[in-house]
Parts: sequence; structure tokens; C-alpha cells
Amino acid sequence: MSTVLAIETSCDETAVAIVKNREVLSSIVASQIETHRLYGGVVPEVASRQHLGSIGAAIEAAIGEAAIAWDAIDGIGVTCTPGLVGALMVGVSAAKTLAAIHDKPLLGVHHLEGHIYASYLAEPDLEPPFLCLLVSGGHTSLIHVRDCGNYEIVGQTCDDAAGEAFDKVARLLGLAYPGGPAIDRVAREGNPKAFKFPEGRIKLPGGGFHPYDSSFSGLKTAVRRTIERLQEEKPDAPLPVADLAASFQEAVARALTKRALRCAEDLGLTKIAVGGGVAANSRLRSRLQEGVAETGIDVLFPPLKFCTDNAAMIGCAAVEHLQRGQVSPMTLSVRSRLALSDVGSLYA
Ligand code: KG4
Ligand code: ZN
Repeated sequence: MSTVLAIETSCDETAVAIVKNREVLSSIVASQIETHRLYGGVVPEVASRQHLGSIGAAIEAAIGEAAIAWDAIDGIGVTCTPGLVGALMVGVSAAKTLAAIHDKPLLGVHHLEGHIYASYLAEPDLEPPFLCLLVSGGHTSLIHVRDCGNYEIVGQTCDDAAGEAFDKVARLLGLAYPGGPAIDRVAREGNPKAFKFPEGRIKLPGGGFHPYDSSFSGLKTAVRRTIERLQEEKPDAPLPVADLAASFQEAVARALTKRALRCAEDLGLTKIAVGGGVAANSRLRSRLQEGVAETGIDVLFPPLKFCTDNAAMIGCAAVEHLQRGQVSPMTLSVRSRLALSDVGSLYA
């Protein structure tokens, strides 16, 4: 049994959690969405300052909620890559300070590995190998999870992440940030077949298409061109926002479902674990569930609170590294990027 206090500050949530193996004892998430909404997106410098203001109270709240003493905590986990450097620095400085004061091992965690570990929080008996479909504001990846620390990215986006596409299209439609939930909401009133948008396939130099990679920038452009055409044709008519949202959402859900299923089948994997904020999307969920029917593949959706950024998923990954004797040096630094295949470099 290992218990870890974990910190996550890679983007716009200040999060602290206490995790015992795969059980969450407490999970505090102080969201900055209201602040960044004023700017229509995350402002890095504002995010760092807000983390600094919230981190102390979040640590105290996580310890209070778990009602745990320091001698019952075996290590300090922290997201150290990838993310906004200034934001990561706040979490890593706090984690190092706690590790030094309380004489605990420090465990740097790769943010994407954390998203993979969110699935273990929901399904403690889940074991690799499985396919992780990670769809968030910053990432869209198909990851072959072979073991702890052994990941291969088999598919990804060549430009915008799926969540980023939701946010940008929402802005085109005049909907508020973050765009994903707003599009999901209005799409319920729309016709997903009203407009035919491309699936964003990537052409291969030798002909044909990449089976698992996507491009969402072209899809966003297709929505923008459609809006421009509609406005030219009928300048006084209101935009069919619900139909545009439903048709866009349908194209994203169709693209992600096709690629995830094809990938799982090709790799002979029988489980697809979905993670990241876009995993909340109602159409993606229903399409994936319809898609796996009669294939023998199971699809797992962690509860939403563990899909979006949180520290419990970071703690769960840190526990496993600690149990394998993988500890980070106190010289651990933050990095805006690190390949998922290089997570081993975070440990001494
Ligand atoms: O995982 P997350 O909280 O943060 C990152 O690590 O990026 O994901 C945030 C993204 C945003 O782009 C947001 O618009 C999207 O997830 N999102 C959704 C939904 N809820 C959140 N996208 C589509 N449908 C939703 N219901
Ligand atoms: Zn994330």
C-alpha cells in the first residue's frame, strides 16, 4: 500500500489530491475557467499567478478532506511536463518544498500518463494492455498502453487537438468558452446531418490515408467557410447554430470513433479507455458505445471529474512509480514538452 499527495498545475486548474493505491482519499480542483473566460482562452501569466494564490489552500483542503497525518503519506507526486512552464513551476516548487520539509520522495509525473491513470481510478482492476483515446484541449492521441511507463503513441492530430477545435468552432458560432460543453448543449437541438463536414483524414505520400492520425484544423476551416457562405447568401438570416454545432460534433465523433476502433482491432486490443475533457462529449460517448457493439471490445469512460484535469490521476500514476522504486531527483525541472515514450527520464 502506498499513499501519495499529488499536485497538478499544468494549465488552468490548481489541483491537489491524496491517493492510496488506486483509491482517491481526497481531490481538490480549484478551476480558473471563470477568470480565463474573460479572455476567451487560457492566459499563461494569469494562470501562473492564480496557481500561486490557490496552491496553499488547496494542499490544506486535500489533507483536511482525507483527514490524514503526514507520517501516513509516502511520497509527493507532481505534474512536471508537458504544460505551461510558469504554471508547472508553481506545482513543482510546492512539491519539492513539501518533499524536503517532510522528508518524502519526490515523483515527477507526465501529464498524459496521468490522463491514462484516470482509467485505473474508475476501474481499479484494469490492467494493460489497452488502448487509451486521450482527447483534451491540448492533446488528441491514441496510446498503446503496454505497461506502466511503456507507452507508444500510435495516432495523433497533426494540428489542432479535438478540444481546441471545439473551442475554436464555438467561438465562430458565438458560443462561450470553453466551447466543448457549449457545443454539446446546443447540438442537442440540431440536425447532425444538416451539413456534411470532412473527417480530417491525413493523406499518405504513397497514396491512401493514415489509419489513425487526424487533422482538425481543416474541419474548423470547413465550418468557417460554411458560415461565411451562409452569411453571404442570406445576410439577414440568423445562423443555424444548432445544426452547425451538431454537424461539427458528429464529424469529430465519427472521426475519433473510426480511428480508435480500427486501431484497437489492428493491435488486437480488447479495451479502449477514453480520457481528457472531450471524453465528456455526449455524441462521442454514444458513437463509441454503438461502434464497439458486437466487436468484443469494451470502452471505458472514467467519471467526468477524472477526465478533466485533476490531481488524483497524477497521484495514481505516482503511486505506481513509487512502488516500482522509481523516484525523481530533487533537481527535477519543468519541461513544456516531453515525449510520452521518455517518461523514464523523470526518475533517477
Ligand atoms: O482535459 P481538459 O480538462 O484540459 C486539458 O488538458 O486540455 O480538456 C479541456 C477541453 C476543452 O477544450 C473543452 O472544450 C473540452 O475539453 N470539453 C468538451 C466537453 N467538455 C469539455 N468537448 C466536447 N464536449 C464536451 N462535453
Ligand atoms: Zn489534461
